[in-house]
Amino acid sequence: MYQTLLTDLENNVLTITINRPDKLNALNKDVFIDFDKALNDIEKNPEIKSVIITGAGKKAFVAGADISEFNSLTKEQAMEMAKKVQNILLRIETFGKPIIAAVNGFALGGGCELSMACHFRIASDNAKFGQPEVNLGLIPGYGGTQRLVQLIGKGRALELLMSGNMIDAHEAKEYGLVNHVTSVDNLLEQAKFILTVINSKAPLAVAACIKAANAVYDETKNGFDLEIKEFGDCFATEDMKEGVAAFLEKRKPSFKGK
Ligand code: COA
Repeated sequence: MYQTLLTDLENNVLTITINRPDKLNALNKDVFIDFDKALNDIEKNPEIKSVIITGAGKKAFVAGADISEFNSLTKEQAMEMAKKVQNILLRIETFGKPIIAAVNGFALGGGCELSMACHFRIASDNAKFGQPEVNLGLIPGYGGTQRLVQLIGKGRALELLMSGNMIDAHEAKEYGLVNHVTSVDNLLEQAKFILTVINSKAPLAVAACIKAANAVYDETKNGFDLEIKEFGDCFATEDMKEGVAAFLEKRKPSFKGK
């Protein structure tokens, strides 16, 4: 179905594995074409309630944008590429179903940026995060300068951006970049466990959480107003009536996403 992605759907959780292990899953044009398609497919498929993004092999999540594609680019082409990729990552960030990153090794450059566009991250204890673009005479172009500051604060972000240094999984947790650190072997299980819990909640309410949290970083929106609207919209859903009734009747709710 895809050239560079493997997919596996189990218990309503789709695992997407970026599958270029010989290039440490570096993001080339084909990966982004596939991601675009995959997001369309996920949107249409009601069987998929949430998504894990991970990398093939035990060494890397994604070791960055594919540097071999950089050589021939003009300034204009570089800007066009950055815009296209930023749009895909923005689509992930604002997606109506939870998308989390299971970071199983190097998450460098575009890999760190991809993980930061996900709704949250968990990492294996061998994971390493960094934005090493300065080593190439570059800066991140896929939203890294913005999301890193949002997630870990300006001082820590600028140190990583300007030095190109990597941090390990435990430092990443201390910085708030990842929520949990676990063993390589347990990573996908833990990701699936977290998403199974989320999948049991009302899908429209989960989507509204994503929308409202994203509004914090969107200058065009007033997050508090948006929260009021989303709160009100929830009252008009069947799931809200079911959730409240189930609580009062001391039973488990059965949500339908309506
Ligand atoms: N783009 C293209 N190819 C990449 C890549 C990238 N970002 N990262 C790794 N690869 C390729 C290597 O060229 C190598 O391919 P080859 O076997 O055909 O020569 C293969 O993946 C394995 O990488 P290698 O460098 O041999 O592994 P390592 O364990 O010695 O080092 C890293 C691992 C992650 C430290 C190193 O690969 C690296 O620094 N990668 C680039 C990171 C980066 O700058 N990312 C930001 C890009 S904007």
